[in-house]
Amino acid sequence: MTYRFFVVDDDRHYARLLSYRLDKDAEHEVHVYHSGEDALDALDAGTEPDLILLDIMMPGIGGMETLRRIRLLRPELPVVMISAQGTIDVAIEAIKGGANDYITKGQDDLVKLDAVVKNHRERIKLAREVESLRGEVAGKYGLDEIVGDSPAMEEVYRLIHKTLRGNLTVAIQGESGTGKELVARAIHFNSAHAPDIDGPGPFVVVNCAAIPSELMESEFFGHEKGSFTGAHVRKIGKFEQADGGTIFLDEIGELDLGLQAKLLRALQNREITRVGGNDTITFECRIISATNKDILKMVADGSFREDLYYRLFQFPIQLPPLRDRDKDVLVLAHEFLNKYTEDRSEFAGKRFSAETTRAIAVHAWPGNVRELKNAVERAVLISDSEVIEVADLMLDGPQAVSPWNERIRKGADSIQTQPEMGGDGIGPVGTPDTEPAMIVSSAAQPAQANAESSVLGEGDTIVPLEDLKRQAVVRAYELCDGSVDRASVELGIGRATMYRLLKKYEISTE
Ligand SMILES: Nc1ncnc2c1ncn2[C@@H]1O[C@H](COP(=O)(O)OP(=O)(O)OP(=O)(O)O)[C@@H](O)[C@H]1O
Ligand SMILES: [Mg+2]
Repeated sequence: MTYRFFVVDDDRHYARLLSYRLDKDAEHEVHVYHSGEDALDALDAGTEPDLILLDIMMPGIGGMETLRRIRLLRPELPVVMISAQGTIDVAIEAIKGGANDYITKGQDDLVKLDAVVKNHRERIKLAREVESLRGEVAGKYGLDEIVGDSPAMEEVYRLIHKTLRGNLTVAIQGESGTGKELVARAIHFNSAHAPDIDGPGPFVVVNCAAIPSELMESEFFGHEKGSFTGAHVRKIGKFEQADGGTIFLDEIGELDLGLQAKLLRALQNREITRVGGNDTITFECRIISATNKDILKMVADGSFREDLYYRLFQFPIQLPPLRDRDKDVLVLAHEFLNKYTEDRSEFAGKRFSAETTRAIAVHAWPGNVRELKNAVERAVLISDSEVIEVADLMLDGPQAVSPWNERIRKGADSIQTQPEMGGDGIGPVGTPDTEPAMIVSSAAQPAQANAESSVLGEGDTIVPLEDLKRQAVVRAYELCDGSVDRASVELGIGRATMYRLLKKYEISTE
């Protein structure tokens, strides 16, 4: 790592003394100027120092005026003033003028110089690390993170590029696991931002399904201390946090009508009021929402406000399910395989057999990309040889069948129909093939009862799918000791979906 210094002093002897001292370190690059004007010209021409050592008493515009002009050009650039006069007044004047530090010639000056340089080097190093991390983050959510070149995805890329031109309010629709959040992040990190703003600003996620509706208003807008029981301190809401960046309103179809009205007001006026507060606070951020619901249908049945719909859906992007993406499924599977084995060298060289590739291509993937990713990563982990066999995907056999399916086959041969996958994305569950903790229980019957009949009712009763789903969710939540993360992994659904289902079935997460 190189650190570049400007030494600016008309006293050639002293300038040389400083530059020798600095030059001792191989990582230092020193540029010497004998007037403020010369140093400013170099800055103007694009030479970027990390630190400037600037003499105060110089002919021409002098040190203080040079400092003032540097501040205009580079407000953040560290400048250390140097003077022959060791008076407090001069030091104060220098600091007031925007200098970061002060060295007096002849008073342990070289020792002080070493200390100042050491200090600034640490700061510069940190700043560069932050900068490179920022680049990495942007790269991580770059558009090339989105894999797939099917015509359906080409259309998605075309739309994403249009959103980058200006601040459109984007609504992303798609089944569970189709990449809605991934696309939202890609839009955020690739959008043009104002030249005076450093980077794309914050990306703030609000999951409308995860938070009980009575707390949602405070989540959105914040609250003042004491505004309600439990509001011990002031809270800054997500809209305020997202100022200058993007707010991602996930699972927007889960908002109740009261909150829809409040959200609409905030979006219309671009201002909010904290719960229990009086001041209006303006915010400026990009709005991206996502849902796996058919919002137009909700508008039609009155559960989603039409005016809010029009405001949010200024620019809709529909994400295709995996089944409509042609060969993307194989491209994605290989991408996930490569990424996973690259990250974990112990799995280097693992590959799919021809039969496995075929099985991936024909499987229905109701949980879309997330399910595919999970299946591939699990297959890498559990396969015993370099070649990943079909069985490692756990696509068929008892392990992969959703538990209620399994029970249908075991317990009630008369029932032939396989439950369809709902929009909630509850797909085949990859429970371990040693005795899986059965994720289905019967809320209707005691656990001691015959499990097989209890789940599906007795004899030829047909149990509504919704009841089975509810039972699956309750049971998973209980078996996983209330861990939403684990329960959602076990059920093979996303965390957000799990939260939505817990809310829907009124299961307390307290
Ligand atoms: N086109 C894609 N290319 C690469 N990875 C993808 C793609 N689409 C989705 N993924 C990956 O699949 C997983 C699910 O994506 P994401 O969370 O964005 O989906 P979602 O639509 O928001 O799901 P949910 O509705 O459950 O919230 C993530 O790990 C994501 O990185
Ligand atoms: Mg999501």
